[in-house]
Amino acid sequence: MAASPSFFSYILIEWYHRHQRPLPWRETTDPYAIWLSEIILQQTRVRQGLPYYLKFMERFPTVQDLAHAPEDEVLRLWQGLGYYSRARNLHHTAKQVVSEFGGRFPDTYAKLLQLKGVGTYTAAAIASFAYREPVAVLDGNVYRVLARVFGRQENIAAPASKKIFEELANAHLPADQPHTYNQAIMEFGAIQCTPVAPDCLFCPLQQECFAFQHGLVNVLPIKEKAKSSRQRYFHYLVLQHEDKLYLRKRPANDIWQSLYDFYILETDELHPEPALLQNRAAEALGLPGLEFRSTGKVYKHILSHQKIAAQFYLFSLPSRLREETEDTIGIKLYTIEEIEALPKPILIHSFLDEHFF
Ligand code: ADE
Ligand code: SF4
Repeated sequence: MAASPSFFSYILIEWYHRHQRPLPWRETTDPYAIWLSEIILQQTRVRQGLPYYLKFMERFPTVQDLAHAPEDEVLRLWQGLGYYSRARNLHHTAKQVVSEFGGRFPDTYAKLLQLKGVGTYTAAAIASFAYREPVAVLDGNVYRVLARVFGRQENIAAPASKKIFEELANAHLPADQPHTYNQAIMEFGAIQCTPVAPDCLFCPLQQECFAFQHGLVNVLPIKEKAKSSRQRYFHYLVLQHEDKLYLRKRPANDIWQSLYDFYILETDELHPEPALLQNRAAEALGLPGLEFRSTGKVYKHILSHQKIAAQFYLFSLPSRLREETEDTIGIKLYTIEEIEALPKPILIHSFLDEHFF
């Protein structure tokens, strides 16, 4: 490890004393005020959240005041901050503190976690700022600072990394001033070690910082979100002429490159209006008035980042398509024997197996 524990927190706290922004929730140990500030700052920048914090503290100086307020008034005061469920949860939690905890905020990390809307980050913030409990906060700023300074390459978006970073943050926490350490590391991430263009040249951790020393400042932290899966709906036109079917070789810019399938109309619904399919077939194939009745079965296929749901529609053509149309959309007629030998997506193979082979 590049930096010794005491060195890391010592430098951070030194830095914090010189650079911290004066913020009202840092001047108090009232858990209610701290909780309120943390909820407001959850999806909001300090500059935008500060006036709301002041308004709330003025109108509702205690948790009882907030608990007993009409919901309309709470929402009205919240107006402009967005994410109104936060305001409703805030109100709900204030009532919970009054009804379940006798109007006194829970006074340990473990008990704070019982409050609605209070997760590990908020519980650690309140426990350390209000009660000096030695528990490290972990938010986006903390992940970033730790990953860079200690050269941690774990994916911070992976749930399994949380424990690793928690342990690291706690390992450096000075037991006599957890509140200052927590504020310092977050403030350092917000002002000095920023996501983009951190101020490395004037950074007091430069010598100890793994990322700086190894040219990895723009690489760390590693954050790779699992790609969400895209749902796609394929409508396959199985165009038969005499004993042949029209197939096409799939292009390079999509899944199943170079495999053979039928002409597709892709839509964003599993069951689009038949008229939609009819119009698009008329336009692309020069075949007006096709009656779209699916064979009934929905074929599904799951790829790493896509889910395919396919339906098939059989059409018997009295004559070949125009050559120009065939060329434009890249389809050709093949006999069943030829088709058996062509490489095809499994889903196409299954369909053919059930209807033609
Ligand atoms: N953002 C979230 N919590 C904060 C805090 N306690 N101080 C400054 N910014 C914050
Ligand atoms: Fe962050 Fe740069 Fe300082 Fe390292 S040297 S802690 S990357 S600001």
